[in-house]
Amino acid sequence: METETILILDYGGQYKQLIARRIRECHVYCEILPHTSPVETIRSRRPRGIVLTGGPNSVYGPDAPTCSPELFSLGVPLLGICYGAQAMAHALGGRVEPAVTAEYGRTALSVDDSGALFKDVPRETTCWMSHRDRITALPSGFRVTAHTADCPVAAMEDATRRLYAVQFHPEVEHTPQGKDMLRRFVRDICGCGGTWRMASFAQTEIQRLRAQVGEKRVLLALSGGVDSSVTAALLARAIGSRLTCVFVDHGLLRKNEAQAVQRVFGPGGAFDMHLVCVDARDRFYAALQGVSDPEQKRRIIGEQFIRVFEETSRSLGEMDYLAQGTIYPDVVESGTGGDVIKSHHNVGGLPEHLSFSGLIEPLRPLFKDEVRALGLELGLPRELVFRQPFPGPGLGVRIVGEVTAEKVRILQEADAIFQEELLRHGVDTSQGQFFAALTNMRSVGVMGDHRTYDYAVVLRAVSTSDFMTATAVRLPYELLESAMNRIVNEVRGVNRVLFDLTSKPPATIELE
Ligand code: XMP
Repeated sequence: METETILILDYGGQYKQLIARRIRECHVYCEILPHTSPVETIRSRRPRGIVLTGGPNSVYGPDAPTCSPELFSLGVPLLGICYGAQAMAHALGGRVEPAVTAEYGRTALSVDDSGALFKDVPRETTCWMSHRDRITALPSGFRVTAHTADCPVAAMEDATRRLYAVQFHPEVEHTPQGKDMLRRFVRDICGCGGTWRMASFAQTEIQRLRAQVGEKRVLLALSGGVDSSVTAALLARAIGSRLTCVFVDHGLLRKNEAQAVQRVFGPGGAFDMHLVCVDARDRFYAALQGVSDPEQKRRIIGEQFIRVFEETSRSLGEMDYLAQGTIYPDVVESGTGGDVIKSHHNVGGLPEHLSFSGLIEPLRPLFKDEVRALGLELGLPRELVFRQPFPGPGLGVRIVGEVTAEKVRILQEADAIFQEELLRHGVDTSQGQFFAALTNMRSVGVMGDHRTYDYAVVLRAVSTSDFMTATAVRLPYELLESAMNRIVNEVRGVNRVLFDLTSKPPATIELE
């Protein structure tokens, strides 16, 4: 059966992947193509519908991207969003002019007419606007279906030709009914049945990777985190033993993490791949000896990681491709998505002077929850797929001050107890980070009849949706008490347990 496809023509807008994601949420397959794609290319994909994205231009600006008139003769429904709406209006003889008042952000939207996109949408709702220009005269055949205080044509349609346009962004969360509007478009107007599932993504990607890799060899740095694990699982299903994964135990992992990775990916595990585990613990501890500055620690861990990875990959002989678990939010963070820029870099970044004939990043279009769904689809264990985010430098940034093997042991034990107690008390950890950290503070205690002078462990529990801000989670007191009790009793070297209540800002999530 032919896959029902929606094409997204990219006019340079920052939300194109979000549109794609929303369409996938409607269980419909979609592809993003540049707006310059020839009409033959578009036709050859046999799309059920086409979405024109937003973009930074003005239709009257020099070199403004246009909307080919041939698009309208394809006979498939079209939805223009923001710039896409203006490009559609302009191409069909409407007028677009600079708005008297530019609209940015949350805006009250009045639905004038129950246009096809707005069937179940209340007459008064909210939308997210981000525009300077606006449509001031409709192309013939169109009628206005929604307006705002400053935008007379917030939405328009020509139901006969099945052409729809919205000035606002239905794909962002701040347009609460936006998902319904996109669903109306792809399911009702374009008539897609909604049969696409993550399993189909897996199947298509596996075929594509097989064709791309052929008889060649692929190397992947497997950290045991969700993204690299799903990448490994996908590649293993696609190319089996032509994939080699290098797993570096830098001695800063959580308790039993190295064993868990070997269980899933190693010999006898569920995936047929060549897994090389490098025990580099002593090397990292030696490099970190006497270093207490957080940034210097990060740098040392990053450099050592790359060195170990390079040495190992050299010893494995020639590899053709390097695979990475880059996901869409990483693309945005690195700046290419045109959005927020964050300075954290994952350990395991691309070693620049290793030569590969190409980079393979199969998760690049996916958001985190989609990566998780894919992981489950590929048969990865739930505890791995729903693992909390863990920083590349690992426990190195959860031990305040100098890192030693002894401190790592203390922290691993304390953190494992905290995780067990969270699980036992049924705390949902999927929306945040929950971990133990080790302070550099030692204080006096008494155990039995003996004086102790031991470390204080901090428990941190924060909820966050974007990791830029975070608030402390109100954990049940009994949980805190039992975690405290078990840690001081079971972990040698700890005589005090503290709970960190601080939000971010002013604190950060990690202690360093
Ligand atoms: P902070 O501590 O800055 O952390 O509030 C925000 C998010 O980033 C993670 N983090 C890191 N991730 N390398 C990483 O790969 C790092 O050096 C690093 N530092 C912090 C942290 O776990 C949280 O999810």
